[in-house]
Amino acid sequence: MGRLVVVSNRTPGKGPAAGGLAVALRQTLAEREGFWFGWSGKLVDIPEPHAQITDIDGLTVAQIDLTRDDHQAYYGGYSNSILWPSFHLRLDLATIEAHWYEGYRRVNTQFARALLPLLKPDDVIWVHDYHLIPLATELRNLGARNRIGFYLHIPFPTPDALYAIPHHQELMRDLSRYDLVGMQANRDVAAFTEFADHQTPSSLDGARVHSVDFSRTEVVAFPIGSDPDAFARLAVSPAATKMVRRVERTLADQRLILGVDRLDYSKGLPQRVEAYEKLLANDSRFRRQIHMLQVAPPSRDAIKEYQETSDTLDAVCGRVMGRFAEPDWQPLTYVKRAYGQPSLAGLYRLASVGLVTPLRDGMNLVAHEFIGAQDPTDPGVLILSRFAGAAEIFPDALLVNPFDTDETAEALRMALDMPLDERIARWTTLMASAQKHNVTDWAKHFLDHLAPAKVDHSSTRDVLYLASVA
Ligand code: F6P
Repeated sequence: MGRLVVVSNRTPGKGPAAGGLAVALRQTLAEREGFWFGWSGKLVDIPEPHAQITDIDGLTVAQIDLTRDDHQAYYGGYSNSILWPSFHLRLDLATIEAHWYEGYRRVNTQFARALLPLLKPDDVIWVHDYHLIPLATELRNLGARNRIGFYLHIPFPTPDALYAIPHHQELMRDLSRYDLVGMQANRDVAAFTEFADHQTPSSLDGARVHSVDFSRTEVVAFPIGSDPDAFARLAVSPAATKMVRRVERTLADQRLILGVDRLDYSKGLPQRVEAYEKLLANDSRFRRQIHMLQVAPPSRDAIKEYQETSDTLDAVCGRVMGRFAEPDWQPLTYVKRAYGQPSLAGLYRLASVGLVTPLRDGMNLVAHEFIGAQDPTDPGVLILSRFAGAAEIFPDALLVNPFDTDETAEALRMALDMPLDERIARWTTLMASAQKHNVTDWAKHFLDHLAPAKVDHSSTRDVLYLASVA
């Protein structure tokens, strides 16, 4: 078996790995003697052409620096002001500055040039996320003949949203240079297939543009997961218990409704607080009996649309406080700060309701982690957006349309009134699904599928949905 080379924009840092993805890929890399390649986090005037190789807690990491201008065009510009909003169907929040594409392309070329000398012919390369869609093309242009796979962690857009992206035709051609493209959900593969089957390429001068040929690329849904059993253990660890005690003291007998999300417009945070406001307005028996905690660590805050989301959330939370708070009772707490996984696991376990209501989301691992952290004898209820990839594997959550705040308010009421036997029945099914879709198997399924010598996929067929792209 060849080595595994993982490529992503950010690379894992020192200390305990933050996410399940980093843990799972670290494990796989340790077994296969591979390395992780990505941006160092440093911005310099003139980057070295070669990657710096370091050992980070036993993991070999190769990193390159970027110039400030390239990083702005590649990360803040094309990736997060064009691709992110378009892929999340928020064209109203996209800033179309077509020239950012050049910086995006330049960084992908820089990645390829620094990565190529580190490769062996039988290395398998696994590229992650929308920042690096052109990487296979750039590597192949430099002569790489390796198996190269790509995994999209965010949703794939509908054809109309895709057509709105400058240079979408090149991007799709770039995707066709991968041997395997993995997506989060069947929904994403269906959107991809719709584009692939009904391409209407055009150019300004009317010249003929060829459709993209996807006949050599497999596009498959591999829903990512977490490690729910590890989360279950973490939720009763001393660090988690410390957080639980702190919050229990302030909650007294109130039941906790919890949201944990990056401060991103795709997460539907203002709508969520509005739904909570409607619950308090509609059903006065809940006042003084419940408390909403929203943890929202700031994210991409150099981008105007993120600052505006933060301002909107401040205003909505302020409105709810002004409307319902009393000198001795606050309806909600809103913290713009990140917490470590042990603290979060404790909060998940303490919560009566997990509110995971993004307007659109690739998967949403908070849903997985919330399920993993529950007490099996007294589990909380998961309210989940039907527009998160997670909805495909967790139909036993209370599924809501997050744009409809009346519906979310009603789901909150149902969750708070739900009898114990129904909570246990729903959670048991949810936990079984979270265990089945664990992150270790996810990585294994993807890599088995990408492996040069084909393996028998019969055992993974239930999570695969093969697009008819021939
Ligand atoms: O969910 C998509 C994603 O890009 C993840 O890969 C990443 O961890 C997260 O969003 C945070 O994004 P950023 O790296 O821009 O802070």
